[in-house]
Amino acid sequence: MLFISSSSASLHRPRRLAGLFTWLLTGTLLLGAASCATLPRPRGVGMGAAFAVGTCVNVGKLQANAAYRTTIEREFSSVTAETDMKMDVIQPRLNTFEWTKADALVRFARQHRQRVHGHALVWHGSTPKWVEQFPGDTAAWDGLLRQHIQTTVGHFKKQVKAWDVVNEALEGDGSLSHTVWYNHLGPSYVARAFRYARQAAPQALLFYNDWDIEGEGAKLNGALALLARLKAQGIRVDGVGFQLHTSVGASVGTVSAAMQKVAALGYLVHLSEVDVELNRQGQLGAATQPPAEALAQQRQFVRDLVAAYRQLPPARQYGITFWGVSDGDTWLRGFKHHPEWPLLFDEQYQPKPAYEGFREGVAAPVVAR
Ligand code: XIL
Repeated sequence: MLFISSSSASLHRPRRLAGLFTWLLTGTLLLGAASCATLPRPRGVGMGAAFAVGTCVNVGKLQANAAYRTTIEREFSSVTAETDMKMDVIQPRLNTFEWTKADALVRFARQHRQRVHGHALVWHGSTPKWVEQFPGDTAAWDGLLRQHIQTTVGHFKKQVKAWDVVNEALEGDGSLSHTVWYNHLGPSYVARAFRYARQAAPQALLFYNDWDIEGEGAKLNGALALLARLKAQGIRVDGVGFQLHTSVGASVGTVSAAMQKVAALGYLVHLSEVDVELNRQGQLGAATQPPAEALAQQRQFVRDLVAAYRQLPPARQYGITFWGVSDGDTWLRGFKHHPEWPLLFDEQYQPKPAYEGFREGVAAPVVAR
């Protein structure tokens, strides 16, 4: 009924105004908190966190394994394709683009109101064979780079608002690796990649992503120098992805110092591929179960890591993404050829002590710096 007496209408006005005020305030805080307009609804392990908590996702497994799927729906607010947005999957042949799997992931994320973090436009580790054998001159290579980036970013423009543009460009000493892109385009391939991605999605958040840059050593310095060179050329990079393939023996204090340094320069910080090894040297032999003591160490490491992440300025906290859901899903078992238990869930998709560690880290007090 539209017959509202003037007295009841005015009674409702203050509440409506208060509601509007709260809405504006919340919106402003959220925008400030992650500089990413739509922070997805926190859930599961990320409940109470002011940043997105994610996992990488394998689309085949998502379709085939119900426990995997329901854990992702329940626990994570952000997803990254483990392989299905990489060049060898997206463009298996020159000018042939395959979107089926990546589209399925994007649909899943939309259905569950999760953020999709795009990974990765340029990575020598996923360059298809035909690219390695591509015969063209510099102009043709530049065209190849541009076309792959712009077609991919353009295809997902509506739903993927953040991308790892260049992945793992650096050697341990901080110099640029001589990858296939470097060999054909020289060091400028990095700047070209960011420029092409920016042209295709001017509002997107663009990241440089790498491993072992949390050590505060030559590699981090190389990354900072690379970012400074890009900035001097007028190229905007929004964030840095610390992959953080790490182990319980690592120092959270060192990781924290590296993150703080990057945040102080104005970049978003994404812990983009976290796994915390218990068996880095294979010292646990052929164990079939992780020792309780190692699981407790992992819990503490994760707790301290999350607490340290929350010490970053809120506007720099883009999110924490694990590189897999359960220990049975980890890429490390295949990569390292020995047992490993680096994630938050066990093979049965039950939360491990590290899961509790994450929750404790989210609840830890933020100390004024
Ligand atoms: C890995 C995937 O987990 C594997 O399934 C795949 O076979 C190879 O790539 N750094 C990255 C990720 O940026 O894309 C890699 O993912 C792991 C290392």
